[in-house]
Amino acid sequence: MLEIKNLKQRFPDNTLALNNINCSIADGEFVVIAGENGSGKTVLVKHFNGLLSPTEGQILLDGEPVGKNLGMARQRIGFVFQNSDSQILGQTVADDVAFGPRNLGLSPEIVNKRVETALVETGLTDKKDRLPYTLSGGEKRRLALAGVLAMESDIIVLDEPFIHLDYEGVKQVLAYIVTLHKKGKTIILITHDLEKVLAHASGLIILFKGEIVFYGNPSEGIEHVSHYNIRKPFGENRKIESMTWLTI
Ligand SMILES: Nc1ncnc2c1ncn2[C@@H]1O[C@H](COP(=O)(O)OP(=O)(O)OP(=O)(O)O)[C@@H](O)[C@H]1O
Ligand SMILES: [Mg+2]
Repeated sequence: MLEIKNLKQRFPDNTLALNNINCSIADGEFVVIAGENGSGKTVLVKHFNGLLSPTEGQILLDGEPVGKNLGMARQRIGFVFQNSDSQILGQTVADDVAFGPRNLGLSPEIVNKRVETALVETGLTDKKDRLPYTLSGGEKRRLALAGVLAMESDIIVLDEPFIHLDYEGVKQVLAYIVTLHKKGKTIILITHDLEKVLAHASGLIILFKGEIVFYGNPSEGIEHVSHYNIRKPFGENRKIESMTWLTI
């Protein structure tokens, strides 16, 4: 369980990026975070594993402040960032996936096993010796996911995972995300493309000017999105159940 209590983030230049944030995300949920550009989505999730420290308030992971054990928070909460290039750390695809588990101090045998499994699960086995920079955009996104899988994180945060992907790329990445959720992972996903994911989501958070203006059932939330400059999926009259945009 991830709990955010009275979170406020004011940056040194005086930007109030987040204010009054209170919410909890239970294990096994699939929460979508939506909001216009600059509404605070990325800043919010960066608090979940201590990449940013709150100006005020607390982030609790199973009741413990994340700052108390950052190593644990970073193992348990995996990130796939908006820009996958910034996450590449290894010389080869396999090396890149190994980076996290190796840092946990696991034995080489266990690291290799985890890397192998993560590459199979993300369909990257035949590219394991490639330079990560030579992968396509969709493959890089899958590489970032493989890194998270190899850490055996139980909470996976994805910031705009569909950006710059073509139809096939979106289908593949979405299929992996849905599979991970079915296997029991908690998914927290930031997106502007609600129609791609909302049918799979258990909750929707709408951020507006640094505050949560809605957190609840996606089919209820969707009625409010246009007030907050978020495009309503498929126009005005579609029901969320019919939004299985993809057959995955
Ligand atoms: N280090 C920083 N210093 C000052 N202001 C910042 C900093 N990082 C983010 N901000 C500001 O905080 C606000 C929220 O930024 P954030 O990146 O969370 O937006 P977002 O909702 O993720 O937007 P987008 O959809 O464009 O990715 C913005 O006004 C941004 O300019
Ligand atoms: Mg962002």
